Amino acid sequence: MYFVAGASGRTGSRLVHLLAESGHAVRALVRNPAKSAALAALPGVEVVAGNLNDPAATAALLRGASGAALILPNGPDQLRLETGFYDAAVDAGVQHVVKLSSMEAHADAPNPVHRTHHEAEEHLKASGVEWTIVRTSFYFQNFLNTAPRIRSEGILSLPVGRGRATMTDVADAAAAMAAALLDTRHRGRSYDVTGPELLDFDEVAGRISRVAGREVRYVPEDPVAYKARLSRVIPSAWHVDAVCDIFREIADGYFVEPTDGFHALTGREPTSIDTFLEAHRSQFATDGVRAG
Ligand SMILES: NC(=O)c1ccc[n+]([C@@H]2O[C@H](COP(=O)([O-])OP(=O)(O)OC[C@H]3O[C@@H](n4cnc5c(N)ncnc54)[C@H](OP(=O)(O)O)[C@@H]3O)[C@@H](O)[C@H]2O)c1
Repeated sequence: MYFVAGASGRTGSRLVHLLAESGHAVRALVRNPAKSAALAALPGVEVVAGNLNDPAATAALLRGASGAALILPNGPDQLRLETGFYDAAVDAGVQHVVKLSSMEAHADAPNPVHRTHHEAEEHLKASGVEWTIVRTSFYFQNFLNTAPRIRSEGILSLPVGRGRATMTDVADAAAAMAAALLDTRHRGRSYDVTGPELLDFDEVAGRISRVAGREVRYVPEDPVAYKARLSRVIPSAWHVDAVCDIFREIADGYFVEPTDGFHALTGREPTSIDTFLEAHRSQFATDGVRAG
């Protein structure tokens, strides 16, 4: 049985689907089972209620799992929750843990999100349990937040200046984690997982134009205005600052190159931005008609 924590989220729910579809028993930890009826309906999936705030209760739920995966949102509690989870996995006798991390994670990263991931990675490696770390880049799915303005004004707007990014599909992050769980050859290794291309945001707007049925222009957003806008939808000031810092770093010229990590884990090519956009065309298009 495989244990998935963060199972109701973007990456975790896809991971549970992939494991169940390949015939494996899954115990999916969620905070609110009422929101996870779709997961509970999958064959071989047991949805359990829990909160990683309670490592003893988590250890009890982890008992019997051969492997476990952890996905947590960014926040000031992330390091405490992650380290508690790894210690609980050791207590419960779990053989192997897969962690979702970020490619930017390193000891002297300026952003607390990335420093947290680095410290959590180090804790996992020292915990005594076997481990695999899947380090992904900026998700394509972040563009879904920009879709309303693309539909209404034909403008892609983010505070990333003239920066560039190599992005990843969240479905690939989940597939990479599934491969890491299921294939013992990946134990004791970290994989940097990206999509196939390094793109600037004019190019992203051009690709969106093709599926949106209209010209879409990239307009760099003023970072101060962006922060004010984000503060209205994200209650945590810590989180708002962290997201704004990530975009500022991109605007300042930070980027990661495409890697072969996804192929090394899965044997497949990573999802392209065109495939992602086509799959989400209804969210970007005004009339469902493709540009010529
Ligand atoms: N976004 C990007 O571009 C990007 C790029 C690279 C790496 N990442 C990494 O991806 C991770 C986020 O992945 P995601 O987008 O799949 O996350 P997500 O959709 O926000 O899901 C997070 C999951 O964690 C659960 N959770 C939160 N606190 C919990 C607690 N105390 N106990 C138990 N479960 C808890 C949530 O449950 P509820 O449903 O109850 O809230 C949810 O299922 C972050 O670590 C981030 O650094 C993101």
